[in-house]
Amino acid sequence: MNDLLYVNGGNPLRGEITVRGAKNFVSKAMVAALLGETPSVLRNVPQIRDVAVVKGLLELHGVRVEADDAAGTLRLDPSDVEIAHVADIDAHAGSSRIPILFCGPLLHRLGEAFIPDLGGCRIGDRPINYHLDILRQFGAVVEKRPQGIYLSAPRRLQGTKIALPYPSVGATEQLLLTAVRADGITELAGAAIEPEIMDLINVLQKMGAIISVDTDRVIRIEGVERLEGYQHTSLSDRIEAASWASAALATGGDIYVRGATQPEMTTFLNTFRKVGGEFAVDDEGIRFYHPGGDLRSIQLETDVHPGFMTDWQQPLVVALTQAKGLSIVHETVYENRFGFVDALVGMGATIQVYKECLGGRPCRFGQRNFYHSAVISGPTPLSAADIEVPDLRGGFSHLIAALTAKGTSQVRGISLIDRGYEHFMDKLSALGAEFSRD
Ligand code: EPU
Repeated sequence: MNDLLYVNGGNPLRGEITVRGAKNFVSKAMVAALLGETPSVLRNVPQIRDVAVVKGLLELHGVRVEADDAAGTLRLDPSDVEIAHVADIDAHAGSSRIPILFCGPLLHRLGEAFIPDLGGCRIGDRPINYHLDILRQFGAVVEKRPQGIYLSAPRRLQGTKIALPYPSVGATEQLLLTAVRADGITELAGAAIEPEIMDLINVLQKMGAIISVDTDRVIRIEGVERLEGYQHTSLSDRIEAASWASAALATGGDIYVRGATQPEMTTFLNTFRKVGGEFAVDDEGIRFYHPGGDLRSIQLETDVHPGFMTDWQQPLVVALTQAKGLSIVHETVYENRFGFVDALVGMGATIQVYKECLGGRPCRFGQRNFYHSAVISGPTPLSAADIEVPDLRGGFSHLIAALTAKGTSQVRGISLIDRGYEHFMDKLSALGAEFSRD
């Protein structure tokens, strides 16, 4: 794919687009299919690169995957799960962080697993220590090798009691995917409770798992001997929906996002309204629009659910460059998620990043030299520039900035955006954006 987009910005985005299933759920539900003795069917699957990567990994492990792209359906048959060749798995290295979640299911099915060096967005260190600690506590033996990590389970994995130091999404998923087939009871304290995790619990329960979500972030799992396949329709992608909502706000536009759902977006909608955006929810989706007048500055802190998602932050910051006054954003989930603002500053935005915690929430990054707070002073007109996509969400933010700026911007590295935004160029066209490929 050609990686350069010429974007002629300065016009409001108006029209309707559709979002399908959540990237950060679908990929995990695909992995869950490995645990079943019978085939699974997943619906509302978007055509994004992360899904293609997980499909490839599953196929390497003997899972037969039939995709109906137009219908958004995947049939996953794990009857013949087998060990994949290290070199084949290694070819997937660098493309995704999902392979780490294969560990539990593969250890149950095959007694061993190999995980290549992990990819994903460059938004911080993104260690996997919680994942490996969890797997060790279940009884897995973890061995670091030159190309990646080799795991084995000499005996069946045993249920255990674990407290996470931070409610990590991936570590919670790791625990769920491992505990459902382990011997005995597992209890997790400090669990993440994002809607995507709740939907993974729905899937696992359909497969035969026994999982209860107690108060105060405690999840209890009673291991079972056998799980069946599932049939499930993915929850909608609330990150993509919020990204288009921010695009509507930044460009002074009006976008109906078919498929967007309110319950998973309550926190975003409150913030959207405080900034001065309007929205209307109906049974099919949510209309997001700029009602005219000035946008207002806000103070914002990202957090785990039910807080304001870190993935909503970057697109919204572009809209905040158009708000009147000083906005303060404190990022508490990733230590390095403001790299994308350099390009915005180059386009005329006034943004200063700080190492201090500019907010009241407890944060792991204060006093540790990470630029994890930002002050945005607006409104500032943005001007066209030559910009390079840094990561998935930062990349979409650059796209929004280019659409907001008058003149023709060159946005390089747009193929990164395909990892999580389905057919984004078709959607841009549907919204009247002016752009061309080299
Ligand atoms: N962390 C550790 N050790 C670990 C795991 C995580 O220190 O072993 C730290 C991370 O470094 C980070 C924090 O815990 O500072 C939270 O990370 P988490 O594990 O919750 O994130 P993740 O599972 O790697 C998923 C999404 C991210 C999303 C976060 C938070 C997927 C594939 N990715 O990542 O999505 O930002 O949860 O909601 O589900 C994206 O879609 O662009 C994206 C980055």
